[in-house]
Amino acid sequence: MGNFLTKKKSNNNNKYYKIIDSSKSQNLLESFEKLEYNENTNSRKSNYFMPDDDIETERLQQYHYMLKHLCDGNFRSPIHELFSSGSCKVLDLGCGPGTWVLDMGTSFYNNKKSEFIGIDFSPNFPIQIKPANTHFIQANILDGLPFEKDEIDFIHIGTLGSCFSESQWIDLVLPDIFRVMKSGSWIEFLEPNGNSTNCGPYYRKFYEAFEREMISLEVNPNIVTKYKDWFLSDSRFTNVHEEIRYLPIGSWDENNKLGKIGQENFHTFLKNMEHRLSKQLDVSLEEYDHLLSNLFQECYEYKTEIPFHCVYAQKR
Ligand SMILES: C[S@@+](CC[C@H](N)C(=O)[O-])C[C@H]1O[C@@H](n2cnc3c(N)ncnc32)[C@H](O)[C@@H]1O
Repeated sequence: MGNFLTKKKSNNNNKYYKIIDSSKSQNLLESFEKLEYNENTNSRKSNYFMPDDDIETERLQQYHYMLKHLCDGNFRSPIHELFSSGSCKVLDLGCGPGTWVLDMGTSFYNNKKSEFIGIDFSPNFPIQIKPANTHFIQANILDGLPFEKDEIDFIHIGTLGSCFSESQWIDLVLPDIFRVMKSGSWIEFLEPNGNSTNCGPYYRKFYEAFEREMISLEVNPNIVTKYKDWFLSDSRFTNVHEEIRYLPIGSWDENNKLGKIGQENFHTFLKNMEHRLSKQLDVSLEEYDHLLSNLFQECYEYKTEIPFHCVYAQKR
């Protein structure tokens, strides 16, 4: 077996990140200034396409608790022992508002030696009011992770697949992840597969529009189906697992509140994509809203569910 992570020399030049930490008396306004990464810096181009506003921030906060419920916790990797053994450095790549990091920091607050660190190029995470064992770094992952070789015990990656092209994943992001992981450490991906089960014609119409949009951004919309093979085909990883959990998009089962939240969250996601997807569907925004109503009615009737793939593996 070969490995996929050796194509690029590791890139750990840290010119383009900022550590956001209240103890460093960070200027709040400076932290919230939105960096025009590709214009004002030499930072590498990102394909990220979602808005960076309050509605999306709230959606991601809800998304975290929805997935925690779906997956019976914040992670599936067998790392409890690692935490009980003492100091762990845990990294969340593309942490968004930092909800996973804050939740983990709170859960393991008694383990004073562990650190939970979120990285995102949008500084939507809290700066001052947060557990003392949590830290956030504003950085573009494509510029290299601001960590030493063999430094990290656990890496969590939630819904980041479509933020990079497949070649960015293979040539830049994965080799750098491998570089910072300690021997024996774990990596875990959690990601939806838009190619849902029990979907009807409206869902397919939306999904095909989404696929076209992703392809126009040079992103593989089905990258989630590759994660497991990435690790299985790399002899430097072992204990590779994949678990799939199904998120209902509608509350056809009254006892299952998750369906209601699944529908609400997916609805907000599609509203946040309305400018891009209405163009792909060649409809006005009014017609788009009408299609959305039909879509959710259909999801309810078909009992549509979105599979979430949780893939985890251990570095040898
Ligand atoms: C879909 S959100 C997922 C947020 C969080 N992981 C979750 O599961 O709720 C993707 C996040 O990745 C961040 N992101 C995208 N490309 C990035 C890059 N090149 N460097 C750092 N962060 C990036 C975005 O700003 C966004 O917050």
